[in-house]
Amino acid sequence: MFSLSTISVSTLLALLPYVSAQAPAVVKDGLDPRLVLQGINHGYLHNVSVSDVPLRSVCTFSNQWYSQCLPGSAPTTAVVTQPATTTTSGSAPTTTAASKANYWFSFGDSYTQTGFTPSGTLPNSVNPFGNPDFPGWTATGGTNWVGYVTTTYNNSLLYTYNYAYGGATIDANLVKPYTPTVLSLTDQVNQFLTTVANKPASTPWTSSNALFSIWIGINDIGNSWYLSGDRGAFSDTLLNAEFALVQKLYDAGARNFLFVNVPPIERSPLMLRESTESQAGERAVIAGFNSRLVAKANAFAAANSGVKTFFWDSHAQFTTILNSPQTYGFKDATSYGSGSDIFWGNDYHPSSFAHKFFGQEVGQNALEGTIW
Ligand SMILES: *[C@@H]1O[C@H](CO)[C@@H](O)[C@H](O)[C@H]1NC(C)=O
Ligand SMILES: *[C@@H]1O[C@H](CO)[C@@H](O)[C@H](O)[C@H]1NC(C)=O
Repeated sequence: MFSLSTISVSTLLALLPYVSAQAPAVVKDGLDPRLVLQGINHGYLHNVSVSDVPLRSVCTFSNQWYSQCLPGSAPTTAVVTQPATTTTSGSAPTTTAASKANYWFSFGDSYTQTGFTPSGTLPNSVNPFGNPDFPGWTATGGTNWVGYVTTTYNNSLLYTYNYAYGGATIDANLVKPYTPTVLSLTDQVNQFLTTVANKPASTPWTSSNALFSIWIGINDIGNSWYLSGDRGAFSDTLLNAEFALVQKLYDAGARNFLFVNVPPIERSPLMLRESTESQAGERAVIAGFNSRLVAKANAFAAANSGVKTFFWDSHAQFTTILNSPQTYGFKDATSYGSGSDIFWGNDYHPSSFAHKFFGQEVGQNALEGTIW
């Protein structure tokens, strides 16, 4: 048998379709988030990450802030570390019966993922994420912004259905994810539509007690900004696809929407290894995407009665912190690793310590005065 730390990335990726057919949840959760990040930049950046980032084998929960994942002590298969989800499919424990929760349906990519499996235990009073155990399988370990908003900067008891999936693009037909098993925003919305959209007894959400959030675009742009053609027009195409999905959510009863723009990922350590031309190129595409996002959200709200939109300007918040890291307790804007004074948890994802600021911003500013 092989150990996960010694097999090659291509071997592991090659295994995925097979393993996926057996146990999709385990594949997603057993996948090293840093492997996901390699896929995020498939193509010209691929080799950089592969050589820099060892595959994790075993993740150990250290404390509320950090789960450490060490290579070298892997079990003998590629499927690792996800505790089994044992309860009845799609059910909520009876302990939730008396709880009066509000609902958050969250969609996105690795910046948002916690490893939720919709057919597993649903959010409940013991674990507001349902599954996996809080804080879930986040990109760099520890609690991410969804966890902080759900449990720390929440204005009520929140049950969070987090469909976000590492590596996600809006639509795999528009921008291919790094591997076909990635659930795109389209797939995630379909998961919602085919499970709890009809407000089953397990999930008694209403138009007024539910918030729908979408933070997407990082991988769409990361995997396409360097292509030829009119990138602004392509951002329109991407956002039209996103808002067609938003319309489906509206048709299912969604009225409250939190939109999140794309942060300055050209300032990630991974992109800082690229040329300044590359950084500038990606920056420009992000700016175009973000300004269109605001316009589309406004147009959507104007065209559909009863819609309330909230906005978290993640681009502004990342920029503020990265321009003055020490103000926020970070030693600089470029290091990555596991220290509490490091903004980037790895070379493409913010640390849990950064996510705490994001959660605070969303809970206390973007959603200020709301029930969420
Ligand atoms: C990446 O690795 C492959 C396989 O080793 C190689 O063919 C390719 O030239 C490399 N690309 C870059 C940009 O280094
Ligand atoms: C926030 O969420 C936590 C965890 O579910 C819960 O214990 C707490 O009561 C919530 N806060 C408010 C203000 O409802």
